Amino acid sequence: MPAPALVLGATGFVGQEVTRQLAVRATPVTAHVRPDSRALAEWQTKLTAVGATVDTTAWETGAMTAMIETLAPAQIYICIGTTRARGKADAVAGDIYEAIDYGLTKIAVDAAAASGVRPRIVYLSSLGANASSSSAYIRARGKAEDAVRGAGLPWIIARPAIITGDRGETRIGERTAAIVGDGLLAVVGLVGARGLRNRYRSTTPDVLAAALIRLGEDPGHDLVADGDALR
Ligand SMILES: NC(=O)c1ccc[n+]([C@@H]2O[C@H](COP(=O)([O-])OP(=O)(O)OC[C@H]3O[C@@H](n4cnc5c(N)ncnc54)[C@H](OP(=O)(O)O)[C@@H]3O)[C@@H](O)[C@H]2O)c1
Repeated sequence: MPAPALVLGATGFVGQEVTRQLAVRATPVTAHVRPDSRALAEWQTKLTAVGATVDTTAWETGAMTAMIETLAPAQIYICIGTTRARGKADAVAGDIYEAIDYGLTKIAVDAAAASGVRPRIVYLSSLGANASSSSAYIRARGKAEDAVRGAGLPWIIARPAIITGDRGETRIGERTAAIVGDGLLAVVGLVGARGLRNRYRSTTPDVLAAALIRLGEDPGHDLVADGDALR
């Protein structure tokens, strides 16, 4: 039987798909859902139906450490992050990306390192992540990547461009960016700059999830993947 895996952010657009694909491959997969989720019962039903075990450990380092010790996952997929609208709805104080995108990732990697299990961290980041950026989102992603690299565990950092498809909520900016961006990149590809096109064109959760799992299970680690490496 394959070694167990843990998905943090298992209710997200990408996290759900990572969870589903792991379960289809008969990997024992634990899907983490925050205990204060407004739709906890619904997620319990949905994630259990795809074959995952649902865990609702609190976002606190000690509790997460104990959970990881018990599960002993070979990989931890971190697919966590917020948006301005979500952060507001959740009443997150201060810099929402610092608190969630960076803050929860830091808790996860600290807990994984403290557990002694030595799982591989597969971190879903973003193209352009940079801890020195003036953009709060890009900066938080850069800080989270630094935390992943600094944990003393094997790691994979994935940096997709736009992730598009039919999600349960409207994100017009995301869809528009994908359509306009892919159109421009098609022209770029025609004039010969295929590397540029492959790096920046949009992807979908199913393609990205398959790539995250492939990279997570591959013997190679401590690498940043973008473009074609995520297809
Ligand atoms: N979408 C894109 O185009 C794109 C492109 C490149 C990189 N990325 C990065 O990839 C990440 C994942 O993408 P996605 O589209 O799968 O995101 P998503 O659908 O918004 O999912 C985000 C996950 O984070 C969890 N989360 C958010 N706020 C939380 C909080 N306050 N406490 C605990 N958990 C919280 C959500 O849980 P709940 O369901 O409980 O809220 C959900 O499981 C993004 O955050 C983004 O930074 C996205």
